[in-house]
Amino acid sequence: MRVLRLRKDPSVYSSEVYLIRGDWNHLSDVNTLVDAGANGAVVSELRSLATGVGKRPVQQVVLTHSHFDHSGGVARIAEEFEPEIWAYSHHDPRCKRIRDGQCVRMGDRDFYVIYSPGHSNDSICLYGPDDGALFSGDTALNLMMPGGSYSRSFVRTLETLAALPLKIVFPGHGDPIVDGVGDMLRRSLENVYRSEIFDDQGLPSAAGDAGGGSQLEATIRSAGRPPGIEGGQHVLAR
Ligand SMILES: [Fe+2]
Repeated sequence: MRVLRLRKDPSVYSSEVYLIRGDWNHLSDVNTLVDAGANGAVVSELRSLATGVGKRPVQQVVLTHSHFDHSGGVARIAEEFEPEIWAYSHHDPRCKRIRDGQCVRMGDRDFYVIYSPGHSNDSICLYGPDDGALFSGDTALNLMMPGGSYSRSFVRTLETLAALPLKIVFPGHGDPIVDGVGDMLRRSLENVYRSEIFDDQGLPSAAGDAGGGSQLEATIRSAGRPPGIEGGQHVLAR
């Protein structure tokens, strides 16, 4: 798997846009964009890249959520490359709906959709077990201290993510995170457990309902498993 973080237009607020290709540009690899950015500025760079003979430079786009900085560029990219476009919500008639747990082939790897409400109701993360890689969109992963309030559904998402043997996170904004991903998630989870947690109706929820100490211990135990990652490389190329 090769992951390329495409250049953005500095004059426009935009998400990161990642191109995922296979190691050898095989015909069966699926050239995939994770997020489209705000304005399609990535199109010119995409035209210049080696993306394999006999196939489109972008065969599919997977949106981590529908906020404009991540999805505004879809129209331009669709017009240029005619990809399939996948999203959790049906905010755009061009989008096919993606579901929690669904497997999506990206480049030469299988990724799994993790529904991750919190930042928005249609947020997803994409987890690639072969590389311990996560495309996290705008899901908050690094919560430095207790305080504030969180929904139970967000807490469940964080528990799920903290239990994964992650090696690298490609966030919706900023540089990839490669050091201490597991520690970061466990610290975030501890801080969330020490904050206010609300149920899906907006009512206060006891910490134990959302997980609490025993769940935290179980999560940490499970996150301490050996990664079990075989083969594969994540390459940050340009
Ligand atoms: Fe964003």
